[in-house]
Amino acid sequence: MDEKKIMCIGLVCLDIISVVDKYPEEDTDTRCLSQRWQRGGNASNSCTVLSLLGARCAFMGSLAAGQVANFIVDDFTARGVDISSVVWQNEGVTPCACCIICSNGGSRTVLLYDTNLPDVTAENFKAVDFSDYKWIHFEARNSDEQVKMIKRIEQYNDLVAAGQKISVSVEIEKTRDDLYQLFSYGDVVFVSKDVAQKFGFNSASEALKGLYSKVKKGAILICAWAEKGADGLCSDNKIVHSDAFPPEKIVDTLGAGDTFNASVIFALSNGKSLQEALTFGCKTAGKKCGLHGYDGIV
Ligand code: ADP
Ligand code: FRU
Repeated sequence: MDEKKIMCIGLVCLDIISVVDKYPEEDTDTRCLSQRWQRGGNASNSCTVLSLLGARCAFMGSLAAGQVANFIVDDFTARGVDISSVVWQNEGVTPCACCIICSNGGSRTVLLYDTNLPDVTAENFKAVDFSDYKWIHFEARNSDEQVKMIKRIEQYNDLVAAGQKISVSVEIEKTRDDLYQLFSYGDVVFVSKDVAQKFGFNSASEALKGLYSKVKKGAILICAWAEKGADGLCSDNKIVHSDAFPPEKIVDTLGAGDTFNASVIFALSNGKSLQEALTFGCKTAGKKCGLHGYDGIV
């Protein structure tokens, strides 16, 4: 039998990227170093990375037919990502983001046109054959629906043998109150620096200690903190840390977090320890920061 797949559920969009050496001043007419189109969105980027790492993976999210979706589908296909669970919506348009990457210093500014494209629902999720999957990752978005989806996975897990159970991870990146209910779901929860700061924490380790009571029993909580690396905590109460692995020159940090998440999921799903997974996540994400796009991270 083929190795079971990892599914990532969340956003796919088109990133229209301009690379500059200095952030442009308003109302000026300047030249950029390069421009490109790139498939974006956290869950979608994590699929790219999983594929490059050699995992079988699938993306579930929404698209609306049109030229943007054609570009996205071609790119998923080129990367070998299974998109049979994509939901083609009849209303709304596929989102695009204008991304300005400063290749000098590592900032990335994203102006996302978050369209009226509906997110995938628990009803859509019924079409997924759970027996194909070993891990399902959720980028927190429409959390009420996502809770229902996770509950369906939990029901499935109650019925199958230990080796067949699906691990669930959740990424809480955006500072939106409605997303915080997802802390208590998932075997692995990724919380962003933004969310940690919103809760009043000034470091990854502080955030983990302060937020751990929100996760379900036995879960792993992980917090990445850009150039400070990342920390993780599980039920043994010991904070695990990895420093960042900065490349010689930072050229493109867009998707560093998505690279980190995918790499940690990849490592944990292959039985690695939390320490090994964090170190691998930081190494791969660091490598990504030294490259335009994702090719070359492995
Ligand atoms: P994002 O802003 O894309 O969500 P994060 O700040 O969460 O990314 O960073 C994820 C991981 O990427 C970090 O743990 C670190 O390993 C790596 N990383 C991000 N920015 C840098 C940087 N400037 N230098 C080195 N590593 C970085
Ligand atoms: C990077 C990214 C981009 C996208 C934006 C959406 O993490 O997924 O690809 O434009 O964030 O918020």
